[in-house]
Amino acid sequence: DAVLPSVLPQPVAARLTKAAIFLVVTLQPGREAESAVRKLCADLSGLLRAVGFRDLEGGLSCVLGIGSDAWDRLFGAPRPRDLHPFREIRGKHHAVATPGDLLFHIRATRMDLCFELATHIMSRLGGFVATEDEVHGFSYFDDRDLIGFVDGTENPVDGAAVAATIIGAEDPDFAGGSYVIVQKYLHDLPAWNRVPVAEQERIIGREKLSDIELDDAAKPSYAHNVLTSIEENGEPLEILRDNMPFGDVGKGEFGTYFIGYARSPHRIERMLDNMFIGLPPGNYDRLLDFSRAVTGTLFFVPAASFLDAVVP
Ligand code: HEM
Repeated sequence: DAVLPSVLPQPVAARLTKAAIFLVVTLQPGREAESAVRKLCADLSGLLRAVGFRDLEGGLSCVLGIGSDAWDRLFGAPRPRDLHPFREIRGKHHAVATPGDLLFHIRATRMDLCFELATHIMSRLGGFVATEDEVHGFSYFDDRDLIGFVDGTENPVDGAAVAATIIGAEDPDFAGGSYVIVQKYLHDLPAWNRVPVAEQERIIGREKLSDIELDDAAKPSYAHNVLTSIEENGEPLEILRDNMPFGDVGKGEFGTYFIGYARSPHRIERMLDNMFIGLPPGNYDRLLDFSRAVTGTLFFVPAASFLDAVVP
């Protein structure tokens, strides 16, 4: 079920970077807004080339995701097979669903490149969108999140990353596409820092300083990496994450912006069920006792070649 050669995916599997902007907007009603977005779709690769060329070492990339309702307004039929609004989960903890028509996931080694591209994107969308959420993420030491653990270690790489994220023959009209779920989490760091490191390590399933995985025998069934390791017919179902820390020291806000890509949203949703409801129910992810999801949105990521061909 390889990707068809004529379709070029968006840079979903770009490597982890030092800086990122996560921008979620909703569209105003009306045809004008729709045509502004369609025009941006067609122009995005050109904008990216123009800004990115000013520092090729900067590795600027942008992934554009489209929400379920926006898909119907912008493109109509056919629809990506598994596109639907984010489903909230009410378990031991609450995974909220929040509005979002477009997601821009902008990554580079330098924030100025991300910022410049975001500026051009917003100047095109101007009065046609409302910003629901904007997060500027930074890489924190050796790719740690603000709870102090290295985040991203078990991500699939290279071919495995593509196999985990890029749609193939299962939805031929949308081959080369992907799905993405984002959730903005705020941590209660004072409470987390009162938890002894050995228990924090059991909650994550890895050692804090060395990042080495705990022995299976030492991992509790609620460990984050136990609940998020899922299988189908004996095969692991992988996703690609590019979480980023963010914060506002004045407000005492410390967060992790979760972003997960997959060729089907179901595998991310299964992980979320395991975390929020528990496996079995009640055996939930203890990380959530210290981390509150304040947003939750699902988007389809069309192939880059689909965007290039959009008629404004
Ligand atoms: C692993 C942090 C939310 C899926 C990890 C690891 C850390 C971490 C530190 C271990 C290192 C690694 O392999 O990356 C966090 C934090 C979160 C969060 C701070 C939010 C507060 C989520 C969510 C999902 C998820 C919402 C999926 C819906 C995974 C997966 C792994 C992982 C699949 C790899 C498991 C393995 O194969 O070992 N996460 N995570 N995480 N996380 Fe999360």
